[in-house]
Amino acid sequence: MIEYENLGKANAAFMDEYRERFNAVLASGWFVLGKEVAAFEKEFAAYCGSAHCVGLANGLDALFLALKAFGFEPGGEVIVPSNTYIATILSIINAGLVPVLVEPDIRTYNIDPAKIEERLTKKTRAIMVVHLYGKMCDMDPIVALCRAKGLKLVEDCAQAHGATYKGRKAGTFGDIGAFSFYPTKNLGCLGDGGAVTTDDPDLADRVRTMRNYGSKVKYHNERLGVNSRLDELQAAFLRVKLGKLDAINAHKRALAAVYRERIGEGFVLPSLQEEFFDVYHVFNIRHPERDRLRAFLLEGGVGSDIHYPVSPNRQPALKGIIDEACPISEEIHATTLSLPISFYHTEGDIAAVCERLREFAARGRA
Ligand SMILES: Cc1ncc(COP(=O)(O)O)c(C=O)c1O
Repeated sequence: MIEYENLGKANAAFMDEYRERFNAVLASGWFVLGKEVAAFEKEFAAYCGSAHCVGLANGLDALFLALKAFGFEPGGEVIVPSNTYIATILSIINAGLVPVLVEPDIRTYNIDPAKIEERLTKKTRAIMVVHLYGKMCDMDPIVALCRAKGLKLVEDCAQAHGATYKGRKAGTFGDIGAFSFYPTKNLGCLGDGGAVTTDDPDLADRVRTMRNYGSKVKYHNERLGVNSRLDELQAAFLRVKLGKLDAINAHKRALAAVYRERIGEGFVLPSLQEEFFDVYHVFNIRHPERDRLRAFLLEGGVGSDIHYPVSPNRQPALKGIIDEACPISEEIHATTLSLPISFYHTEGDIAAVCERLREFAARGRA
């Protein structure tokens, strides 16, 4: 069986180092917001090319606190892609703001910059882009639009650790970048974790204060905050993993190249563009008979996943908040299939997946 993902196997190469760091944190007797968190923040900011990083409890909080840090009045509108993970949209709603959906480019699956302007109103405060599946959005027109209209720019980088656009890393284009370190991510910890990156010292300071009950000095609360602290163990694991992130991304890119070489005809592949360095958090293909294809792969011992099966505008939780049709997003959600592309998969595994895919395509032609 070639599983879609197996986090034990994906982390096997790092276990000895994890154990060493685990023992050191246990021995230190300090478990939340300490030296490991501070060191990780410094190292991750340097890796991304940002002046500041603030470690948080998860990616949803990173998005939420990024928005809260701007201090927008309730009811302000935030532009967001219609085909994202629910967390992006929830962060806007939870911050008392209004999500305004913009459809993606069907070739890149990322927000279509040409469709943003028509959705701006007097109430628009920010654009929140999502670098979906490990590919960055087309940032030049989006950054230009934000500058021209005086809008804040937030990047959801939960799927794009180390991805670049024109040589610059995700999380360095907007006012603030938000990351998740959920275990499946390219930079995943062994539990929940998140962070923001920013060059703005005031934004960093506000998020840093809000993550710990709005307090800088113990028991003195200057803002309405939350508890969104990163713990020492996760930070220690993340420091180990950060040292391997480029190798993880390179491995995934090599596996993606095998897919491209061997997959054959009949499937829509992720787009390839010059000046984009994609890190393939997800390698998705599209096929009109996605569910039949998925079952066929499984019968042949190949696992897969769907990111995501339901378009946000069709989620019951968002009924009454988002009721518009999003045909492009819905088309993507109905046809997309994510193939195995974990750090532990070999090129041989991917060749075997491709063989099964070619078999499916050949049956369709017969
Ligand atoms: C695009 C995107 N945004 C936000 C999140 C939220 O991150 P977390 O699960 O760490 O809260 C995730 C992942 O889960 C994601 O994929």
